Amino acid sequence: MENTTATSAMPRIGDQAPAFKAVTTQGEINFPAQYAGSWVILFSHPADFTPVCTSEFMTFATMQDEFARYNTKLVGLSVDGLYSHIAWLRTIKEKIVYKGMKDVEVTFPLIEDITMDVAKAYGMIQPGESTTKAVRAVFVVDPKGVIRTIIYYPLSLGRNFDELLRVVQALQAADAFGVATPADWRPGDDVIVPPAGSCGVAKDRMDGKEDITCHDWFFCTKKIDKETVMGAIRK
Ligand code: BEZ
Repeated sequence: MENTTATSAMPRIGDQAPAFKAVTTQGEINFPAQYAGSWVILFSHPADFTPVCTSEFMTFATMQDEFARYNTKLVGLSVDGLYSHIAWLRTIKEKIVYKGMKDVEVTFPLIEDITMDVAKAYGMIQPGESTTKAVRAVFVVDPKGVIRTIIYYPLSLGRNFDELLRVVQALQAADAFGVATPADWRPGDDVIVPPAGSCGVAKDRMDGKEDITCHDWFFCTKKIDKETVMGAIRK
């Protein structure tokens, strides 16, 4: 089949985050090396001075301290230039009042990517949606620089920030307790324990001998109360 659109390989969950150096509104960054030891949400937006992106930036900036409590830093990107970024962020701070948010200062770095090099390395340019703008991509990168979650949204759809926070909480809880998290999990909800390694353990679980509830041999849950989860993942 003829390939008529220029696409580039997209990083995958479990891959090391592609490394780059870039100019940002907070100076140059060396990604992901300088974020070693922290979680990072690297996200792209289509364009400065557009309404959906403005609502998202105000929300990200308002939630920055909450993400920080989960050792999570924010890094934004669009294919606009640095002076556009600076002017847009100043306009947001000085003029925009939205859903109770006002005087919002964006202090996390916003990458200028006029060459689209970074956007292409992260599969943020999706030609079916736009050849000139990045889609709304979200890469959750762990303290070792490994991509742990990828979410893409189209240009018209603003992100759900409760979900982004939930993703960070769930990934960190999974790491801390060696569990998985079921549909719609929130801290305090039951978690899923790994399958029993032997028939004996599976039988004990099914017989209720462990503090685990088994819905079937392959589907067992246990309680971890909210305080315990938060104690492990929240600063
Ligand atoms: C927006 O952020 O509002 C937007 C940006 C690019 C295309 C469509 C909407």
